[in-house]
Amino acid sequence: MREYLPPHIGAFWFRDITGSTANEAAIRIAQKATGNTDVFSLFLSHHGQSVAATGVSGNAFRHRSFTLPFPGSVKVPAPDCANCFFGQTPDRCRMLCATRVADFAEYASSGRIAALIIEPVLGNGGNLVPPDGYFRELRRVCDDLGILIVADEVQTGFGRTGTFFASTGVAHELRPDIITFAKGAGGVGIPVAGVLMRPELDVLEPWEHSSTAGANPLSLTALEETVNYIRDHDVLDNVTTVGASLLDGLHALARDHVTVSHPRGVGLMQAFDLSDADAVHRFLPVAKRHGLIMRGSRYGFGRAVKVRPPLIITPSQVEDLLDRLRAALRTFEEEGS
Ligand SMILES: Cc1ncc(COP(=O)(O)O)c(C=O)c1O
Repeated sequence: MREYLPPHIGAFWFRDITGSTANEAAIRIAQKATGNTDVFSLFLSHHGQSVAATGVSGNAFRHRSFTLPFPGSVKVPAPDCANCFFGQTPDRCRMLCATRVADFAEYASSGRIAALIIEPVLGNGGNLVPPDGYFRELRRVCDDLGILIVADEVQTGFGRTGTFFASTGVAHELRPDIITFAKGAGGVGIPVAGVLMRPELDVLEPWEHSSTAGANPLSLTALEETVNYIRDHDVLDNVTTVGASLLDGLHALARDHVTVSHPRGVGLMQAFDLSDADAVHRFLPVAKRHGLIMRGSRYGFGRAVKVRPPLIITPSQVEDLLDRLRAALRTFEEEGS
């Protein structure tokens, strides 16, 4: 996998099989390496199901029924341009969602910040692709404050955005100190996860973070074979090429259907919005009737419909997908969207 890593990433920790615990490992690494406690994360983020991973995730509906203590968790506004926390438009915002992280450090944290964890494209939160310049500014602010950056690439990794990691493509200016991965790393659904980092952050002892099934031979074989498959079948080129036609197609659908707005995405990590979460609930079964398995965002609380075909989808299958989507939208609108 080395050939696909940013050059400054040289160490790994492969003792996890879920993205949730890989993110926990990343938090422990950042805390141990810096001697600090707090973790910044984004509104709308999703980092997993464990206490710490849920604790740093930015959605109240996942906390409401429990006590999930993460005392040093500080949530900062996401780069959600369609719904800007600062009431700005992209042409005049001066990237406040990145620069104001310094204010959260000054006024909302303990002053001892270990890391900022970020999904390069916020997946569950609504497939939010940050605007140009966001990653560069965020990196600058974190460098100024001595905060490590963890890129949670559990969704974006292994080719989903057209490069092996988003951190080597659309998010290369983030220059994360730590990268976590899972999901697609197992290829056909075999659980695999891991943490990649700068060599000097390789600070954990085995007894500080490991589990029985971590680094099991099946998972490691699946990981190796997935990397080989991606390389040998030019999967990254395919994702970039067909992803561009898919996005064009979603833009065309948005022009023709008033119910569809904000087509967006990178590679084969795409989405569009319907009017609200209720419309998404009603649309998904219609899409299924047209042969499309699609999912909403924010566990049903969001208005995005995610479009996530397999990375090996062919150009003609993308045409078929778009035809089915168009037909599903027509049915949805006829049935009283
Ligand atoms: C960005 C992100 N991080 C972490 C996780 C948690 O991964 P897992 O379900 O393997 O624990 C997910 C799962 O959906 C995710 O999308």
